Amino acid sequence: MFALDGRAALVTGAGQGVGAGIARLLAAQGAIVAVNDLDAERAERVSTTIRDAGGRAYPAVFDVTDPRAALLAIRAFERAVAPVDILVNNAGNGGAEGFRPTRFRQTVPEDWQRFADVNLFGVMACTKAVLDGMCARRFGRVITIASAAGVSGQAFGISLYGAAKGGAIAFMRHLAMETARDGVTANTVALGLMDPRPSGRELAHTAEQAERIPVGRLGTPEDAGAICAFLASTESAWITGQTLQVNGGAITT
Ligand SMILES: NC(=O)c1ccc[n+]([C@@H]2O[C@H](COP(=O)([O-])OP(=O)(O)OC[C@H]3O[C@@H](n4cnc5c(N)ncnc54)[C@H](O)[C@@H]3O)[C@@H](O)[C@H]2O)c1
Repeated sequence: MFALDGRAALVTGAGQGVGAGIARLLAAQGAIVAVNDLDAERAERVSTTIRDAGGRAYPAVFDVTDPRAALLAIRAFERAVAPVDILVNNAGNGGAEGFRPTRFRQTVPEDWQRFADVNLFGVMACTKAVLDGMCARRFGRVITIASAAGVSGQAFGISLYGAAKGGAIAFMRHLAMETARDGVTANTVALGLMDPRPSGRELAHTAEQAERIPVGRLGTPEDAGAICAFLASTESAWITGQTLQVNGGAITT
């Protein structure tokens, strides 16, 4: 069950953290993985880790906010390795290298653009690059990593991030409608608070944050990878247009 042998996957922003976990899990299920990141060294390091563990992975260095660069890099991977069957839109700016919370009144239009560029338009750019091929082959899995912040009001100072993630969630729902008859599913994983320590960072008040989560801990890259491996599988074919809340039971209203 849930084997991904023979499938090719592209995971964006996979040079560390959540994306690296997703890339590792998909590779462990048998997928050939294109490890995308802006940072070439990170993409290379994660690809090497996967290969050392017996998997197949290739770095794919490009900026998801540049649609032309994304298209060219994805085509190059598809020509050299295999057509992309599974796309995980993970690149975003809400993680370990995220942003300083800023109330909306203190933001400027350049900030609005920056959040939309990576969390929403980056999702569209990568999806556009792979979608025709998926529909033609009548199999595809598009998975977008969003956040509880895109589903509900979470905290002060993250309205731009929440709006961009909420936009990505709505985009995926509509995409699911358009591609359902072509064998392509489109789902979103809305993550709760993730533990940044796998990327070598400390989160302020980690213990208190974990205490507020019913399961009693922050999320791990493996938690994110496991749900993506399932959503990427053939067996998940009847699940589309959904937003799965993966958050240790945290209430999101
Ligand atoms: N960390 C959390 O608590 C949390 C919670 C909810 C959702 N998320 C979401 O999960 C995803 C991953 O988060 P993370 O904690 O692993 O983040 P991270 O900051 O640790 O890693 C993100 C990676 O993406 C790369 N990246 C950034 N912009 C890029 C671009 N334009 N093109 C290509 N690569 C790019 C970075 O170089 C980095 O390696 C993000 O979409 C984030 O919004 C994270």
